[in-house]
Amino acid sequence: MERLDKFLASAGLGTRSQVKDHLKKGRIRVNGQVIKDGSLKVDPERDAVMFDQKSITGFTEAYYMLHKPAGFITASRDDRTPVVLDLFPEELRRGLIPVGRLDIDTEGLLLLTTDGALCHRLISPRHHAVKVYEAIVSGSLSADAAECFREGLDIGDDKKTLPAQLSVLGSVPGENGEECALVRIALQEGRYHQVKRMIHAVGGHVIYLKRISMGGVGLDPELEKGKYRKLTADEIEKLKQIE
Ligand code: URA
Repeated sequence: MERLDKFLASAGLGTRSQVKDHLKKGRIRVNGQVIKDGSLKVDPERDAVMFDQKSITGFTEAYYMLHKPAGFITASRDDRTPVVLDLFPEELRRGLIPVGRLDIDTEGLLLLTTDGALCHRLISPRHHAVKVYEAIVSGSLSADAAECFREGLDIGDDKKTLPAQLSVLGSVPGENGEECALVRIALQEGRYHQVKRMIHAVGGHVIYLKRISMGGVGLDPELEKGKYRKLTADEIEKLKQIE
C-alpha cells in the first residue's frame, strides 16, 4: 500500500503540486469514487485508479448485467437486508456500483459497473437512457392513462414527469384470481418509485414490477434470477453511445 499522491506522481501525473491540483479538481477516482485526499492508501495491484477516463493501474473497467431477484436492496452494503452486491463474489465487488436503483421488490435488469462516469450519464435525465419495465397492475387504469403518461404526470414532485409510454399488453390473473393488466412502460428518468407512483396516478396499483431493458440493453433471457454476466463489447458500446 502506498499514498495516493505519491503513487500518482510516480505514475507520471506530474509534480506533487500538479498531482494535488488534479486531486482538488476531482479528476482522480479510486474504485469509482472521486478522491481528493492524497494521503489515502492505495494498492496499485488491486485498486482501480483513474485520471479522468484513463486507467493509471493495470485495471480495466468492469460492466455487468444482473438479473435482480426480489428481496435484495440496491446498495453496496446493509447491516440487515441482503444487497445486490452479495450476489457477486468478493473479488468482483471492489469498485462495482449499481447503475440506478430498483426497489427491494422489483426484479429484472440491473447494470453494475466500475465506470463511474458512464454510470452518472446513464442515470442522468439529461441523457436519454430509456428504461423499459413490465408490470402487473391491479385496479382500473383510466381510459386516458397512456395519454397521461405521454403528456407527463403530476406525481407530487416539483416537476411533472417527462413524456413516457404505457402500453397494455394483455390481462393476467392476480394473486386472488382478480383480473390484472400486464403493461409495458418506457421511462426516460428514474425517480423514486416512479413506475409505482405513475401507475397510482392513473388509477392502478403495481403488484409486480420487472425491468426488461435499459439504454437499449435487454435483460438476457438466458440469465436466471440472481445471476450476473459480463456485458458484451456491443452492449458496452451501445451504452457509451447514448447522447
Ligand atoms: N419504478 C418503481 O416504482 N420501482 C422501481 O424499482 C423502478 C422503477
